[in-house]
Amino acid sequence: MPSIYLLGYPLGHSISPAMQNAALHECGIRETHYQKLSLPPEQMDEMIAALRAPDCLGANVTVPYKQTIMPHLDSLTDLARDIGAVNTIIKRDGALIGDNTDAYGFLQALRERGIHPKHCRAAILGAGGAAAAATYALAQAGAREIILLNRTLARSIALADRLVPRFPELEFAINDWDALARMHLVINATSVGMSPHADETPLPANISLPRGAVVFDLVYNPPVTRFLRDANQRGARVIGGLEMLVYQGARAFELWTGQTAPIRTMHTAATHVLQSMIESHT
Ligand code: ATR
Repeated sequence: MPSIYLLGYPLGHSISPAMQNAALHECGIRETHYQKLSLPPEQMDEMIAALRAPDCLGANVTVPYKQTIMPHLDSLTDLARDIGAVNTIIKRDGALIGDNTDAYGFLQALRERGIHPKHCRAAILGAGGAAAAATYALAQAGAREIILLNRTLARSIALADRLVPRFPELEFAINDWDALARMHLVINATSVGMSPHADETPLPANISLPRGAVVFDLVYNPPVTRFLRDANQRGARVIGGLEMLVYQGARAFELWTGQTAPIRTMHTAATHVLQSMIESHT
């Protein structure tokens, strides 16, 4: 059966299969199935073999493989190379091409709420693939300042070394927690707080969010994370990760199928499956 895979480990939290299969169905692509392929890092070779099999049409890539998959692919789009992470794999004439639709999804989710990052000051928690896409998207959209806050300093430095030289106008700092107070936008691009660890927050206990900021959690399950609840209590405007998931998925769908993505169908399917997951846990 023609397949599109979701590569990640673990994948219990994912709602992409419901969302993408609803889109395939809506567009009359009934023979193709979007399915999870959740293997541990030691089985990277098996993942790549599955991608190279003739019935595989492409893939999405999520935690923790957005960066480690890159050397296994045949080529990268300029965007994926610039961001330094792949969340979508396209197959052309048997070759595996790494692309990135996270940056687009991230900006669309902001724009949909009337938020335009030009001249903004933004803090990004994290330095993995999702953080790289958010950093690139904000810098490209004309943000004035970005601070990266991550547990592992070396990863922030690697991300900065790759991206900062491309944006000479950008004010940039790493692990400057004091600067958080002047940020307009604070983004959680770590996996902290994701189901089933919904009681966790990426913000250290001694750090407060700036009042009046927009706080965006890229985590979509649960829809309201502890990070967003805390932000809400500080008077922030909060954004969950669902719309970004839908927009990055819609762009990936278009790359695989060449058809316009049925955004409404995808949003509805994602919302429904998320709701039923939450109900089954309560
Ligand atoms: P993705 O590519 O989807 O962004 P990733 O590359 O595994 O996934 O990145 C996950 C991010 O969450 C990283 O920034 C990671 O921090 P480290 O670079 O220090 O590993 C962050 N993260 C994950 N678990 C964390 C935790 N318990 N506390 C703080 N940060 C965490």
